[in-house]
Amino acid sequence: MEARSMLDPMHLARGAIFDLDGVIVDTARYHYLAWRRLACELGFAFTLADNERLKGVSRVRSLEILLAIGGVAADEVQRSEWLKRKNEWYLAHIATMTEAEILPGARGYLRQLRQRGRKIALGSASKNAPLILDRLGIAGLFDAVVDGNKVAQAKPDPEVFLRAADELGLPPSDCVVFEDAMAGIVAAHRAGMKVVGIGEAGALGDAEWIVPGLHAFVTPEMSASML
Ligand code: BG6
Ligand code: MG
Repeated sequence: MEARSMLDPMHLARGAIFDLDGVIVDTARYHYLAWRRLACELGFAFTLADNERLKGVSRVRSLEILLAIGGVAADEVQRSEWLKRKNEWYLAHIATMTEAEILPGARGYLRQLRQRGRKIALGSASKNAPLILDRLGIAGLFDAVVDGNKVAQAKPDPEVFLRAADELGLPPSDCVVFEDAMAGIVAAHRAGMKVVGIGEAGALGDAEWIVPGLHAFVTPEMSASML
């Protein structure tokens, strides 16, 4: 485990708040395929590097970034039509997802935290989050789910994490956030929470801990049935 502190991030905290995309499941490639299809129809290329800019960013803001890349101007009506179509393509991919696409260690770590008496929330920008949790069969592992439908301000605003802490009945300082995107790390810090950054150190700002994935927390004591 590559960590700035080797201490267990959940040693003292009573609440764990997880981002969804890129932390529990890798949906980024499905977002990419749907956005690339839209860009293609609009007559410009959209690369994987471009897609990195959309991680953790709301659907509406993602479209703004995409249109700026293509140099395309559009009114509100046209934008909503494109947002609707992109989401339909994205949902078609999600419909084929299976439990095998849960990222390594994610389910096991959630179960371990529950066993340790920790409260668990989802704090995601995605409006599709409840559907994805159901599809993956892990909705029951969360005490609270705060998604893009419940908040007015997208990350890096702290609203999603503050609401998650509130729904868990815990003060923000008692919660740790697990995030893979800079917007989410900034949001967590603004909420007064410590962050476990998931991914590579260079892309995770000043997260208090950095691990490549939740599999880093899987301990030998965890029984096979938990994984
Ligand atoms: C975030 C993703 O979790 O959710 C972003 O990282 C995505 O890429 C955002 O744009 C909104 O998702 P959705 O499912 O509401 O379009
Ligand atoms: Mg994410």
